[in-house]
Amino acid sequence: MSARPRVLSGVQPTGALHLGNWLGAIRNWVSLQDDHDTFFCVVDLHAITVPHDPALLAENTRRTAALYLASGIDPERSSVFVQSQVTAHSELTWLLNCVTPLNWLERMIQFKEKARKQGENVSVGLLDYPVLMAADILLYDADLVPVGEDQKQHLELARDIAQQRINARFAPEDRPLLKVPEPLILAEGARVMSLQDGRSKMSKSDPNEGSRLNLLDPPELITRKIKRAKTDPVLGLEFGNPERPEADNLLGLYALLSGVGREVAARECAPMGWGQFKPLLAEAAVEALRPLQERYAAILAEPGYLDQVLRSGRERASAVAEASLERVRAAMGFLPSR
Ligand code: TYM
Repeated sequence: MSARPRVLSGVQPTGALHLGNWLGAIRNWVSLQDDHDTFFCVVDLHAITVPHDPALLAENTRRTAALYLASGIDPERSSVFVQSQVTAHSELTWLLNCVTPLNWLERMIQFKEKARKQGENVSVGLLDYPVLMAADILLYDADLVPVGEDQKQHLELARDIAQQRINARFAPEDRPLLKVPEPLILAEGARVMSLQDGRSKMSKSDPNEGSRLNLLDPPELITRKIKRAKTDPVLGLEFGNPERPEADNLLGLYALLSGVGREVAARECAPMGWGQFKPLLAEAAVEALRPLQERYAAILAEPGYLDQVLRSGRERASAVAEASLERVRAAMGFLPSR
């Protein structure tokens, strides 16, 4: 096991990544690279737990990886890889499936929400989603998993599987088989809300495009979406008023995107009307995303670069994941795989 604490996280390559994915997750991965051993995967197997278009999956997978790099993930210091290309993820999922109680999965909030939206067409994969996520994390003996607030329950499940279903059953007490991971959920940005409803989460699956700012939206579109964002009739922006979730959300976005922080943002915007505030927020968003968008274009313009990053990430990830899988296989009583 490595001396530096391990970090693993991932994003699904479903459609365009938005501000919530960036502020809640990817942006926080960047500084962890300095003193952690970091693994970041594009979780393409998770992306097929809801109906998907095969013509788009590979392209979205590459785009998501390119966005990691454009956000400041450095492939020299982090292993950036595609989940499905490291087959140990699927194999460990099966082993974990056979020790995970069904009712642990049935009570997952995200499953219940997504299942409700899909009606009849719910796949076994959607129910099993958190077990695959547990495998992603446990294969790397991750100490820390930086995610947004909505992933907290899935992290708790991964901890329970590691502790109660693997370590307690298959390992001596003083030599646990799998590391029990901790979530890393920052206070700011962990729950970015929809531009059209301050009480619901910004989400890739919201049919209303105007509900989210995508990381690759051009400046005019960002400005237009913010102009049309839901407001209220009250003058002045403020944090923490439960009657004004839109004010809280947009002021929080301004504090993060402009970099001035919550205190200064609150003071600066307290006397402002929405008409004065929105252009300010739009400018902060455009400026915050500009460097990311420029790097993204440069990465994709360099032939072969991204593929080479993913190849070397896959090699590094496979070496770690294969060893963990073999350890679990042996403890569960299987013949060696090689
Ligand atoms: P995904 O693709 O739905 O979300 C990726 C990351 O973005 C965060 N996030 C948000 N944060 C703040 N506000 C929002 N509105 C918002 N929407 C999304 C999510 O919390 C997440 O951190 N199941 C994971 C993917 C995954 C994973 C893993 C993560 C699969 N295996 C292993 C960590 C470790 C997910 O939610 O993806």
